[in-house]
Amino acid sequence: MKISKIICAAIASAMVLAFAGCAEKEKTTLVMATNAEFPPYEYREGDQIVGIDAEIAQAIADDLGLELVIEDMAFDSIIAAVQSGKADMGVAGMTIDEDRLKNVNFSTPYTTAAQVVIVKEGSEIASPADLVGKKIGVQLGTTGDIFAGDIADATVERFNKGFEAVQSLNQDKIDAVIIDREPAKVFVTQNEGLAILDEAYTIEEYAIAVAKDNTELLDQINASLAKLEESGKLEEIIGKYIKAE
Ligand code: ARG
Repeated sequence: MKISKIICAAIASAMVLAFAGCAEKEKTTLVMATNAEFPPYEYREGDQIVGIDAEIAQAIADDLGLELVIEDMAFDSIIAAVQSGKADMGVAGMTIDEDRLKNVNFSTPYTTAAQVVIVKEGSEIASPADLVGKKIGVQLGTTGDIFAGDIADATVERFNKGFEAVQSLNQDKIDAVIIDREPAKVFVTQNEGLAILDEAYTIEEYAIAVAKDNTELLDQINASLAKLEESGKLEEIIGKYIKAE
């Protein structure tokens, strides 16, 4: 009697473990790493993170039947979060870049973007070529940071948030800011006396970063993005935040 009880208990607990094992493998969330300091792509509205990237990520999660979880962090922590599996994907207005491609894979691009130069109105800096020898503010770890580092004799001031670089320009502590065009437009409308140079610094493409070994998710994201593009939903999301000039 006793022995059969033990066997029964053993079988029962094995079943529980097997069941728990199955449940663990069934993924129900899609964790997005971002840096919500980047309007109109990701920013805070009350305690919500909203913007183009948040909506694209939500649409992908819906398509994959997963619950979207957004983790807000420093921009230069996103790649590491994706690599370590702390996040499933990085969606942060992230430019496809050679160096990043050594550490993560990128989805198909979902939009074209540009780095632009913000100056004070009436600045002697009239084109990107005039940045030589200047004090340039950037957000740490962004492509703006990388490009500023290539400008001859320039001093690069790195800020945790793009907005802080703009504030520093406003206070005449630096001569210019190199940052992505759409956030630049938002920051310039929030601060009087600033202007964006007509000539862009570079043209780039934004895509979603996924861990090198997670090609299954990469394929799923690409398939979802293709659907969003075909249905016109991608354009609709972007158009909601970026008004045509
Ligand atoms: N496009 C630039 C880059 O990839 C800047 C992105 C900054 N994004 C953000 N959410 N702060 O480096």
